Amino acid sequence: MICPIIVGITCIFAQVAAQWTCGGASYTPGSINFTQTCYDAVQKCINQFAVNASQVDCQDLEGNVSMQQQASKASNSDYASAFEDILEFCILGGRMTGTWFDGSDGQWYWIAAEKGCYSSSGTIGTHGPGFCIQDQADTIINGCYPQPEPNSGALQVLRTAKTPNGFTSSGRGWNSWGLQALPSSTSIIPEWTGLNQESVLAQCSVLAGTDFRAMGYDLCSVDSGWSTNDVDEYGRIQYNDELFNLPQLAEQLHGIGLKLGVYTIPGVPCGATNRTIKGTNIQIGDVLNGNNDGLDHCDWDFSKDGVEQWHDSLIELWTSWGLDMIKLDYVMPGSPQNGANLMCDTSAVVEAYHKAIANSGSQVRLDISWKLTFITWQVVQRAIDNYRQYISLQKQQNVPITIYPDLDGLFTCNPQNLTGVSDKERVTIMNHWLGAGANLILGCDLRHIDELGMKLLTSTQSVAFANFAALNPMQPRNPGTGNNLAQQLQAWIGGPDESDKAYVLLVNYGPDQGSGGFGTSLAGVQKLSISLSDLGIAGRNWKITDVWNGNSTTVSSSYIANLDEGESQLLYLEG
Ligand SMILES: *[C@@H]1O[C@H](CO)[C@@H](O)[C@H](O)[C@H]1NC(C)=O
Ligand SMILES: *[C@@H]1O[C@H](CO)[C@@H](O)[C@H](O)[C@H]1NC(C)=O
Ligand SMILES: *[C@@H]1O[C@H](CO)[C@@H](O)[C@H](O)[C@H]1NC(C)=O
Ligand SMILES: *[C@@H]1O[C@H](CO)[C@@H](O)[C@H](O)[C@H]1NC(C)=O
Ligand SMILES: *[C@@H]1O[C@H](CO)[C@@H](O)[C@H](O)[C@H]1NC(C)=O
Ligand SMILES: *[C@@H]1O[C@H](CO)[C@@H](O)[C@H](O)[C@H]1NC(C)=O
Repeated sequence: MICPIIVGITCIFAQVAAQWTCGGASYTPGSINFTQTCYDAVQKCINQFAVNASQVDCQDLEGNVSMQQQASKASNSDYASAFEDILEFCILGGRMTGTWFDGSDGQWYWIAAEKGCYSSSGTIGTHGPGFCIQDQADTIINGCYPQPEPNSGALQVLRTAKTPNGFTSSGRGWNSWGLQALPSSTSIIPEWTGLNQESVLAQCSVLAGTDFRAMGYDLCSVDSGWSTNDVDEYGRIQYNDELFNLPQLAEQLHGIGLKLGVYTIPGVPCGATNRTIKGTNIQIGDVLNGNNDGLDHCDWDFSKDGVEQWHDSLIELWTSWGLDMIKLDYVMPGSPQNGANLMCDTSAVVEAYHKAIANSGSQVRLDISWKLTFITWQVVQRAIDNYRQYISLQKQQNVPITIYPDLDGLFTCNPQNLTGVSDKERVTIMNHWLGAGANLILGCDLRHIDELGMKLLTSTQSVAFANFAALNPMQPRNPGTGNNLAQQLQAWIGGPDESDKAYVLLVNYGPDQGSGGFGTSLAGVQKLSISLSDLGIAGRNWKITDVWNGNSTTVSSSYIANLDEGESQLLYLEG
């Protein structure tokens, strides 16, 4: 996931009011009263759709609420968020009907509410969620995010400082999601018997090897599926004890020099509503704000006392198990593939976890993330363009960066038949993740890494570049202009640092597959010519070494690379 502007650890988003629409008309929160009875009837219908795969319509007993979907759940994966959207933008906006066409699976949804659902003393306040991202057609609403200014001129070197939780390099390790999402992983990977303690340990123990330790890959992070919705007496999230004994796993990992990470999403399991938050007399149900995002968890009302104490108590519990990292998912923006109503500004949940970690006194990594599907080149193009926007906005802030970006799982260990990307593309992915100073969280099968994978992940070249970029992340400087716009043929520079060392990455992203941001489709090998003034380092000679091939040359004005689609060249510069 990428956060557009970060101050401390908080993402700052442009707030855009009333931009979600019902059939083209803006929704203005707070202007109508909907009865609790009708609201409950809609929720009850949504639950019916959830449990009955063949249901296509639903009414309350008095016929005041009617709902319909075009086809049964089998072909409608996101009915819940579609109906929540209609409820939010149309029905709670004061309209008596609303229809939603879902661009992602071509289905429509409809709700109608009779007059009796609206009263002068209604009880459902309509709230402006500050939603800013996406509609169900998966389009990004313009004006929602700050866009970086195109920039050239003098090079402004970017530096990374210590994070608020005291880290000085990106998180490195492995996460289970890649294997969980890999079709038929249990049949093609013998040691992977699904998400459970033995499978995870079998993968992570590879990280204890010397090659991996030298690069600092020490995180073993367990993705979605480790927890249950059965909370404890204080409403805290528990591990699924049929799959895991997390305190024992933490001990086993610590014993071989590794660390344990777990995945979570914003909110609290809805079944926790009548639990009392530890150390308070506050009931969880009294500090919630419904369930608006379509996720499994109910949403917190972050303005209420008790919410931070719940997060504090959760971290107290989790650190008592020996936890070292949290991957907090569904933090927007970052992915146009949705299926949930995610708020634009999810800063509050990030702050709550951050404060809870600080309050705990433990050094726990907080990794904020959102959706990179199992890898395709289109998703790589999108992730890279998101990084371009993020780092260009960071540059406008002109203060040391105190966050390491999460570009999501790194699928570079295994060959194309597992990763879905070619060897050239794997090299380009690695170059980018390294150059961004990004978290290096491997999403692959560690038991069957090929030769290229080992080289990309653990070679001395990788270690050197990772350590350099952790302090001096790269930024775009385009061939011909030095600006930072998205381009198919792009150049990036990290540094130069105090000792006049720099890294330059030259890339041909190939034709834009839809979200690369550059929109061109140059096919085949392309000539990329970059000058030292494009890079902002003109005025002297540089010794330039191709990092992966090892050959060097001295450059006084410009350098040319011929790059195939998806290919890149990583250069080390000495001034
Ligand atoms: C599921 O929905 C179908 C179609 O509306 C209906 O005939 C059936 O009775 C429902 N099943 C249950 C268990 O409610
Ligand atoms: C349904 O609507 C009728 C009038 O249209 C109203 O009298 C009645 O209270 C409504 N029932 C509910 C449960 O909202
Ligand atoms: C909503 O209810 C309040 C009183 O609770 C009333 O003042 C207001 O006029 C109502 N609004 C509408 C649109 O009925
Ligand atoms: C909530 O409290 C009621 C009454 O004390 C109890 O019957 C119910 O099981 C509780 N629900 C949950 C989810 O704990
Ligand atoms: C993938 O290809 C490699 C050879 O490059 C082969 O050894 C391996 O069995 C293949 N894996 C699958 C799942 O097809
Ligand atoms: C490395 O060698 C290739 C092939 O001869 C050449 O095209 C390229 O410019 C060289 N790169 C450097 C940095 O010397």
